[in-house]
Amino acid sequence: MSHNVIHKAVFPVAGLGTRFLPATKAAPKEMLPVVDKPLIQYAVEEAYSAGVRHMIFVTGRSKRAIEDHFDTAYELENELEAAHKDELLALVRSVQPDDMVCAYVRQNRMLGLGHAVLCAEPLVGKEPFAVLLADDLMINQGPSILSQMVDAHTKQGRSVLAVQEVPLDQVRRYGIVAGEPAGKQLIRVEQIVEKPSPEVAPSRMGVAGRYILTPGIFDEIRNQPTGVGGEIQLTDAIARLMQREAVYAFQYQGKRYDCGSKEGFLEATVELALQHPQVGASFRDYLKGLSL
Ligand code: UTP
Repeated sequence: MSHNVIHKAVFPVAGLGTRFLPATKAAPKEMLPVVDKPLIQYAVEEAYSAGVRHMIFVTGRSKRAIEDHFDTAYELENELEAAHKDELLALVRSVQPDDMVCAYVRQNRMLGLGHAVLCAEPLVGKEPFAVLLADDLMINQGPSILSQMVDAHTKQGRSVLAVQEVPLDQVRRYGIVAGEPAGKQLIRVEQIVEKPSPEVAPSRMGVAGRYILTPGIFDEIRNQPTGVGGEIQLTDAIARLMQREAVYAFQYQGKRYDCGSKEGFLEATVELALQHPQVGASFRDYLKGLSL
């Protein structure tokens, strides 16, 4: 990964997670486990696998559990060591590899995803960076989706958004892009609209929660009025960035689970449980025995 030009990833985790109340009253949505791993850990592992070593979390109230999760757990580690539970000890320690640095910044008002990304500017500086929304859980074969996006960014030197075709009746849940083919799995974006109605959507290419952005995005966010829902939308800032430099969309192959919704979270839980090395086989038997 010596050629890697993306060193930093931003994880906006300040959202209230209202769709998961009451679970998210005092606990962060990003700490909800899919089988045995919290959502945020899947996203951090994806970034790490793409060569990123600086993880920047944009947090809010009730998010301390995320900081603790990526910190040393002395008591727990001592207990596991004394009990010679070496495998569990290694598992706990693997959450924070030695060469991974975590930094935290607060978004003290919920002004939207664009605003959350802007809060990370002092920690990102003037270099391209990744943004990962942990509630989009991405599962694919081969190199992670973010790794593939880093490769695309290395070739193009521009911002890259993850996209996949979505059903027409769901376009209003996504940022939607349209543009011209620009190579393998790449589109040069000409239009991007946040949550359009099916009648006006320029395509069915929906943006998933993985972005590589050039630092020019910060000025665009700063100078931008509020958008859909009274929030400072990242999509609007990307639309403005496109006026100054090319932006690409990467058509990923794989599955995205919207774990910010109950349905998506349940689908991810069932499918990942079925693949789990310890519980997969018995869980499959259990499901077969249900009279559905
Ligand atoms: P969502 O709107 O899906 O998340 O934002 P939410 O607000 O947490 O959830 P609901 O809709 O109330 O159930 C997408 C991502 O952007 C982050 C969220 O944490 C989530 O990862 N976000 C959103 C922020 O960090 N700050 C914001 O102001 C808004």
